[in-house]
Amino acid sequence: MSDNLIERSERHGLVCLTVNRPKALNALNSALLDALAAELDALEAEPGLRGVVITGAGDKAFVAGADITEMRELSAAQARDFAQRGLATLKRLEALPVPVVALVNGFCLGGGCELALACDWAVASDNAIFGQPEVALGVIPGFGGTQRLPRRVGPAMALDLVTTGRKIDAQEALRIGLVNQVMPLAELDAYAERLAKQLAGNGPQAVRSAKQAVHDGLDQDLDSALALEAGLFALAFAGDEQREGMSAFVDKRKPNF
Ligand code: HXC
Repeated sequence: MSDNLIERSERHGLVCLTVNRPKALNALNSALLDALAAELDALEAEPGLRGVVITGAGDKAFVAGADITEMRELSAAQARDFAQRGLATLKRLEALPVPVVALVNGFCLGGGCELALACDWAVASDNAIFGQPEVALGVIPGFGGTQRLPRRVGPAMALDLVTTGRKIDAQEALRIGLVNQVMPLAELDAYAERLAKQLAGNGPQAVRSAKQAVHDGLDQDLDSALALEAGLFALAFAGDEQREGMSAFVDKRKPNF
């Protein structure tokens, strides 16, 4: 792997970003946040994008947190800046119009867990370890963990994790809904290949609308959210994808999206 802090590769329109600082267990420092922001500049401008996966270099860590060495000397004002930069970058990742999936290949702690939570869902290798251990360092999560974790796993489990700082294994992460699937480390790549093919086989605008309906709907009351879905459903009939998808079914052929 090169010296780039974020490595980028692509298959069938699925872009894979690999956080590449394995000697520090891929800990997120300012330079890495900048590199991620630069990748997002490119991804936001890519009309053919079908999905994004994000993983860590090496076989030990996804991301072991924000960089403790860098944070150690921060003043309160600098800490606020650092957190704001991370929050803004993760918000942009979350807001990409296509599915964004964390492939968690080892330690997924602190800011690493927050990075995974900013993804639409996560799959984990069976050696993965999760946690929000910030309290053991005398701080709290600062890249969204106190807000996205309870939304993903419920407030009681989130409070357990953010106040005890205890670490959980992949099976427990699966049980509490922090990850969708657990698999051997060696199978993560095949998962990404399957995902790329699945997304490439679906209507690209339909996939985007499905994501938008879930994300935007969660911020609204149920009646407004159902109206949002109805609007996006109808919109699908105004484009070419619906005719192609349904004609392909009737003609017993694969759709050409
Ligand atoms: C900087 C880190 C790091 C981190 C690991 N390293 N995690 N450097 N920041 N978050 C470095 C180590 O210093 C070490 O460098 C190398 O990576 C290998 O780590 P080891 O500790 O030697 O490995 P191991 O004994 O296997 O332990 C793995 C580990 C441990 C359990 C993951 O590294 C660990 O506890 N890391 C910190 C996890 C954590 O507290 N994360 C939350 C950070 S706070 P050298 O040079 O010695 O080889 C946070 C806040 C987010 O994320 C919000 C910010 C606004």
